[in-house]
Amino acid sequence: MSNEIEIQRDYWNREISAFGSIYSQDKSRFSIWLDKVFRWDMFERFAFTIQNCEPIENRTFLDVGCGTGIFSIELAKKSAAKVVGIDIAENMVEQSTQAAQGEEVADRCSFFHTDLLEYAPDGTFDVTFGIGLFDYIDDALPVLKKMREVSTDKAIVSFPRFWTWRAPVRKLRLSIRGCPVYFFTKRRIAELMKQAGFERHSVAKIGKLHCVVGYCGKE
Ligand SMILES: C[S@@+](CC[C@H](N)C(=O)[O-])C[C@H]1O[C@@H](n2cnc3c(N)ncnc32)[C@H](O)[C@@H]1O
Repeated sequence: MSNEIEIQRDYWNREISAFGSIYSQDKSRFSIWLDKVFRWDMFERFAFTIQNCEPIENRTFLDVGCGTGIFSIELAKKSAAKVVGIDIAENMVEQSTQAAQGEEVADRCSFFHTDLLEYAPDGTFDVTFGIGLFDYIDDALPVLKKMREVSTDKAIVSFPRFWTWRAPVRKLRLSIRGCPVYFFTKRRIAELMKQAGFERHSVAKIGKLHCVVGYCGKE
């Protein structure tokens, strides 16, 4: 495991409750209000991803950097044939596994503790997605290439936008907490998607994010 991955793993193992509470809203009313004002795009990117996974029924999905598993579990509940979530933080994998059992979708939704670059799936997936993942990855290209390699239909990814007033604030806030964070321009995203081998891609601007769909085939 590289030094960068170890830093990430330790950070996300520590931050699991704070991160999970953004979705569960198990927090004070004031914190919920702050999330609505400053993190509304996290909820929008969830909707964007699920919508772009359609059709979901009987298809297969790989959730890279699955976190607490909410995307994977939603897809399993919507009758995906198979969903695999992977994450470098073992606490995230454990919590996701428990959540899938609680939601009674563990028969088609499983989670593994691994870095994508070391993951050797026993087949391809219709759709792979990495949401809130590239924020923390210095060298995005090998990760995008691997996503392309294991996808047959499309990959859905989010990138934090470079030109927002909140980017430097977030960079400072997270670097104080020992977590490097990276930002992307649309031009850089276009280069990356092309180099990774996607035939074409579309970009939607959602708040502080570029939400991107990379297509494996021509049409
Ligand atoms: C901000 S969380 C996002 C979780 C989830 N996708 C969501 O949006 O709710 C990013 C997650 O990516 C994981 N991660 C970072 N680099 C990874 C890698 N190379 N392979 C697998 N997981 C990774 C982290 O451990 C963390 O749990």
